[in-house]
Amino acid sequence: MIQNEKFYFIQTYGCQMNQSDSEHYAGQLEELGYRQTDELTMADVILLNTCCVRETAEDKTLGKIGELKHLKDENPDLIIAVTGCMAQEWQDRLFKRAPHIDLVIGTHNIHTLIDLIKERQQKKEHYLASDMHVPAFHELPAKRFQKFFAWIPIMNGCNNFCTYCIVPYVRGREVSRPVQSVVEEVRRVADAGYKEITLLGQNVNSYGKDLSSHDDFASLLRAVDEIDGIERIRYMTSHPKDMNYDAIDAIAECHKVVNHMHLPIQCGNDALLKKMNRGYTVEHYMDLVDYARKRIPDLVLTTDIIVGFPGETEDMFMDTLQFLKRCQYDMAYTFMYSPRTGTPAATMEDQIPQEVKSSRLQRLMDVQNVYSLKKNQAMERHIYDVIVEGPTKNDKNHWFGRTTGNKMIIWENDGSAAIGDTVPVMVDKGQTWVLKGHIVHKSNM
Ligand code: SAH
Ligand code: SF4
Ligand code: F3S
Repeated sequence: MIQNEKFYFIQTYGCQMNQSDSEHYAGQLEELGYRQTDELTMADVILLNTCCVRETAEDKTLGKIGELKHLKDENPDLIIAVTGCMAQEWQDRLFKRAPHIDLVIGTHNIHTLIDLIKERQQKKEHYLASDMHVPAFHELPAKRFQKFFAWIPIMNGCNNFCTYCIVPYVRGREVSRPVQSVVEEVRRVADAGYKEITLLGQNVNSYGKDLSSHDDFASLLRAVDEIDGIERIRYMTSHPKDMNYDAIDAIAECHKVVNHMHLPIQCGNDALLKKMNRGYTVEHYMDLVDYARKRIPDLVLTTDIIVGFPGETEDMFMDTLQFLKRCQYDMAYTFMYSPRTGTPAATMEDQIPQEVKSSRLQRLMDVQNVYSLKKNQAMERHIYDVIVEGPTKNDKNHWFGRTTGNKMIIWENDGSAAIGDTVPVMVDKGQTWVLKGHIVHKSNM
């Protein structure tokens, strides 16, 4: 090891947007001459890129911040930065809570990292950057953490103000990135050998509404679909209020756009949807799903559901269970409602007791698991193209990859495929969370 080498450690909490932001933090640190390490004790800069969407996310981060104190005691030159949504929400309260933090950087201030590190090296003080009145997109270098999969932010912020959600407060208003800028970045990653991209935004279906051009999500998909070299185009997250037939047509017609749609419903009762300020009804949602299934016959559909929103009665919850049966998702991400200070729902009457929330969550998962299993079992004895991601965490002899529908398949590594290859895999067994299979070789196809 070279004597003067300097290292950074990054931990990311929360959504894909944060993953992408972390890559832009890392890109700047690399430019400053730092290299990445997985060892906390080796780091000269520790950066926690945080989430505050639920209390559990905050608790995890606060626990981690606590763990870092002894490292700071041992090495006063260590720089600890807390960034992202929780930094934006907490601001300088984080310094009060944990004085060993050096930098607090909000969601719109990623570009300030290098200057703040330099200032901190000059003078041991607390530095806060949380101004939201700055451009939402900066052309920053990215150090991509994955070799074949690239995150491409297409917009920042959210205008929807769902009554439970803190994201609009910490991410600001929607700002779309110009098509040209998105296209150029996709061309660059295609030239660099990336095979799969994910277009990112809190509500990708409202892409372009703030632009002076006539571009919208459908036209963006069509523009990106023409770029050579990319195999798969994913997009996250769709919103049922703004998703429309035009976008579904584009998804169906673009060859590289995948057959996976993540369309959060949140709950299956209209009165509750209204209270959540979601802006659609169950029937409108179902109409979109019916059309999407008609246009994209092998559609893989996933969703987000919150249980225990204020005022959720047993009957309303039953509507949600009923909707799971009706819609038959491939998978659902399920959450217990977590009150977020400053959001309207946090002060609504009829907050649901914790034990009711957890029992509803369990009942919800029990119902969904039946359909997840059924969907995965229906894939048995079919062959899917999979991009190889490498060995599984727990067992290096088993490798995994994903289908275009974002289903994870695991197989026993026979040495025939390299990471990043696209290979045909036959599904032998569909389980609730994962599929088991084997690579199909040309000779026995
Ligand atoms: N923009 C996306 C999702 C953002 S947050 C969308 O609108 O769908 C991801 C998910 O977290 C949400 O879909 C919602 O299901 C959940 N979530 C957001 N705020 C929450 C809260 N206060 N408590 C529990 N779950 C929440
Ligand atoms: Fe939150 Fe709703 Fe915006 Fe999604 S659409 S980020 S749930 S406010
Ligand atoms: Fe969390 Fe912020 Fe994403 S609150 S879910 S990291 S936008």
